[in-house]
Amino acid sequence: MATQISLEESRRQKDIIKDLRMMADKEYADSGEKKKYFITTFGCQMNARDSEKLRGILEEIGYEEASEEKEANLVVYNTCTVRENAEQRVYGRLGFLKSYKKHKKDFKIVMCGCMMQQPDILESIRTKYKHVDVIMGTHNLYKFAELLKTNIDTGEIIIDIWDSHGEIVEDLPSIRKHPFKASVNIMFGCNNFCTYCIVPYVRGRERSRTPEDIVNEIKELVADGVIEVMLLGQNVNSYGKNLDNPCSFTELLKSIEEIEGLERIRFMTSHPKDLSDELIEWFGQSKKLCNHLHLPVQAGSSNLLKKMNRHYDQEKYLELVNKIKEVRPDISLTTDLIVGFPGETEEDFEATLDIVKEVEYDNSFTFIYSKRTGTPAAEMENQIDEEVVKERFNRLLETLNEIIAKNNAKKVGQDFEVLVEDKNKNKEGMVSGRTTSNHLVHLKGGEELIGKIVKVHITGSKTFYLIGEMV
Ligand code: SAH
Ligand code: SF4
Ligand code: F3S
Repeated sequence: MATQISLEESRRQKDIIKDLRMMADKEYADSGEKKKYFITTFGCQMNARDSEKLRGILEEIGYEEASEEKEANLVVYNTCTVRENAEQRVYGRLGFLKSYKKHKKDFKIVMCGCMMQQPDILESIRTKYKHVDVIMGTHNLYKFAELLKTNIDTGEIIIDIWDSHGEIVEDLPSIRKHPFKASVNIMFGCNNFCTYCIVPYVRGRERSRTPEDIVNEIKELVADGVIEVMLLGQNVNSYGKNLDNPCSFTELLKSIEEIEGLERIRFMTSHPKDLSDELIEWFGQSKKLCNHLHLPVQAGSSNLLKKMNRHYDQEKYLELVNKIKEVRPDISLTTDLIVGFPGETEEDFEATLDIVKEVEYDNSFTFIYSKRTGTPAAEMENQIDEEVVKERFNRLLETLNEIIAKNNAKKVGQDFEVLVEDKNKNKEGMVSGRTTSNHLVHLKGGEELIGKIVKVHITGSKTFYLIGEMV
């Protein structure tokens, strides 16, 4: 039944897209100029995936991408609210757009993403930034064409934010950055309520797409030239538990493995509390699962992990790491870390340094704790002094960088398969790609290599990349 409704809804949206296309074609015939859009993504990979969908809709209705914001007729800010600095960047840019709007007729500003799901932020944008044309949330992105059309038809500011999700509507157009790799949402939302985190409040409860829908989407992507997929969810390890016909994440991975022509499978994010033995075992057998696991630990101290509501302690986490290294000794492990969670003592912080040294991560996203109103941690006593946090943060980075550089140096002299992704931005005649362990490699070569998997001999290493030669 749910599929029936979403098919109907997507048909309705496609009709609106067609109407807008006719309007744009007519304007193009009159002016000789295509309208241009510019999208900025402020958040995570899920946010980026949403931007691909917006891009798809905009191109379908006849817009083309502008190379700079100031050349655009329509600007989209796809926002993030996970930390305060992500929000500050949005406000800064939004203020700036006011001057474009003054000088350009028909200049449209669309705001969407996680910030919009926060009532106080919405209110402040509505009252202080009146130059915004369309505001939508995270649950109704697929209605973008409809909201834009209503704004064009009425000239009114259109605000449409839902508290919770409706149908899953996934078969609308989308445009990916690279023809050879793609991100695929396998689930939305989060049920975990880690005490520091705002995501469950702005993305709603966990819901999974059916395995059939996911496999079909990937098959279509592969037919279109994709060889690597990134499966996305806030906690992929709890995928499929609430489906009418439950399906574990590992079962899903096994069906995806069978898709002919697909070479590499990645996923994120994997919550340690739900990482199953079934998945670890599959890591030992799969030919397509990349040699990389992003397993956010957040902190090393069991005491802090408890306050964070992570449902594992240091011991359990290290046990998982050992099990994984048993089936794949050379797997690359990466993580997320938070410094300065309320009540973090020097001893707690040192436990974070210890776990980093013990696991020897290949990379980490490292964050300073940011107080998010509405989360339990924001109400906790003992918020840590900014100076103390900064000092700890720098010590953590130093420790991490040393380990990352050491791990990279070990790769010199070895051969790896690299999927070449881009021309090197800084050096002519060089390209850049990724090993299955997600290490960035720069090598000599031309554009013809982009999208191909080549064997590369590593000749040098730095903290954040490797250098190699094709063999
Ligand atoms: N679902 C993923 C993480 C999504 S948010 C997981 O649980 O692993 C990405 C990262 O942002 C988190 O892993 C955490 O390290 C960081 N983060 C979330 N809320 C934060 C906050 N209030 N302050 C600082 N970092 C935060
Ligand atoms: Fe946030 Fe925790 Fe959910 Fe990750 S698992 S999105 S950190 S609440
Ligand atoms: Fe992602 Fe930021 Fe939203 S991390 S889910 S875009 S709050």
